[in-house]
Amino acid sequence: MSALPVDVGGGPVDVLVRMQDPATMEDPYPLYAWLREHSPVHPNPTGGVYFVSRHQEARLVMRDPAFRSLTQEELRAKQPRIGRSRTLRNFLVGITNTNRPEHTRLRRAMAPFFTPQAVETLRRGARQRCDALFAPVVERLRDGESVDLHTEVTAPLAMHVIADLIGVPEADRSSIAPLVSRTLRAAHPTADEAALREADEATLAIEEYFTGLVAERRSRPRTDAVSALANGGGEDGGPALDQAELINMLWGLWMAGSDSTTAAMDHTVLEVIRFPRAARAALADPDPEAAAGFVEECLRHEPPIWMAASQLVPVRDVEVAGTVIPRGAGVHVLIGSVNRDPAVFPDPDRFDPARGVPGYLTFGEGIHRCVGAGLARMEITVFLSRLHAHLPGLAPAGTPVRRRLATQRSFDSLTVALPGGRTSSHRLTPHPSKSKESERA
Ligand code: HEM
Repeated sequence: MSALPVDVGGGPVDVLVRMQDPATMEDPYPLYAWLREHSPVHPNPTGGVYFVSRHQEARLVMRDPAFRSLTQEELRAKQPRIGRSRTLRNFLVGITNTNRPEHTRLRRAMAPFFTPQAVETLRRGARQRCDALFAPVVERLRDGESVDLHTEVTAPLAMHVIADLIGVPEADRSSIAPLVSRTLRAAHPTADEAALREADEATLAIEEYFTGLVAERRSRPRTDAVSALANGGGEDGGPALDQAELINMLWGLWMAGSDSTTAAMDHTVLEVIRFPRAARAALADPDPEAAAGFVEECLRHEPPIWMAASQLVPVRDVEVAGTVIPRGAGVHVLIGSVNRDPAVFPDPDRFDPARGVPGYLTFGEGIHRCVGAGLARMEITVFLSRLHAHLPGLAPAGTPVRRRLATQRSFDSLTVALPGGRTSSHRLTPHPSKSKESERA
């Protein structure tokens, strides 16, 4: 039996509070192990909220029609704060909190931009962008400087890829990119009025920007997602979405495309640093599956999202793993815990790129499964191959700065150095035989 990792004074474990504890933010896995063992469907003492930490039960609540997303009215009644914040409202009225048939309509509207072919067309741009971002960074690292990879590479890379997909012109990107982290201030567990105001100003600025872009593309359409969404897709040949839905969708894609993928790449950097031999072996292997296995294991081992955004509710009282979840109670899946469930992933804390066990829930499950999973995998794979080619022997320079968010496990900065500087063996241009990306060019 695993002991409770931090003393809680003998009271019931408040997962929401524990997840804001800096030690848990750094390493949530002891808490997750305790929950899986002692309280796999955990009634939080705050009341009306249950945390699901094991794989079997997580898949059940995410797939079973006995569970659905909250309606807008239920959300507003449950969380009055939503009414006071444009940002919270946007997060919660988006696609992740809709049910069929509305969900199907929204999902159909965005699906064409995330097909495997659509992702492939973005790969070349991602690769070029990645090299362009790495070039000055490599020089600085070679000169002995330390560099924040989050600010200099991963965040701009993710931003440019989603901007390419949506069709945000190059000249506009630098003004709307910084709004993402300001918007995310609303997702901080203790966001006060000032933080919500700042987030709302950023949200409004993003919305105004996309409103202008939609108008522009209606008059002069191009071959990008914003033109397609603004001008077609509906059964009558008109837009499938009304204006509010369209702006919310663009806002949501901008947020989702920027932050989660950045966090996944940041975690990949840390895994490469922690497991350099595994990284070298995976990337030197001529079989592309080896590099893919490394990416998959990074995604399982350190998922960038703590818990799924949509709050699920049972439509009737449902018993799960011996606990009755009453009708209408909120259910959250702890993704990081599910991915380390030993019932599915033997020796789950071990980082093993050859594991080859499917079923991690980093991208969710069921109807809300992440539409951008293929895109994210492509970006991480491109990034990893470039990282390894440009910067073998990378080391941390200081402690990575984690962002304090309720649902995301992401960073504000990730500073690294290159011990040995110019004397270490690395090259600026990836060698074709070492880079899976080059082989696929
Ligand atoms: C590694 C990066 C990413 C991770 C870990 C991730 C994770 C997730 C998860 C867990 C969900 C399910 C949420 C729920 O059930 O409440 C989700 C949904 C979603 N993701 Fe991602 N995501 C990533 C990248 C992306 C990207 C690049 C995009 C596209 C721009 C995207 C767009 C979406 C959308 C639109 C949904 C809602 C789908 C629906 O409700 O049908 N995500 N994502």
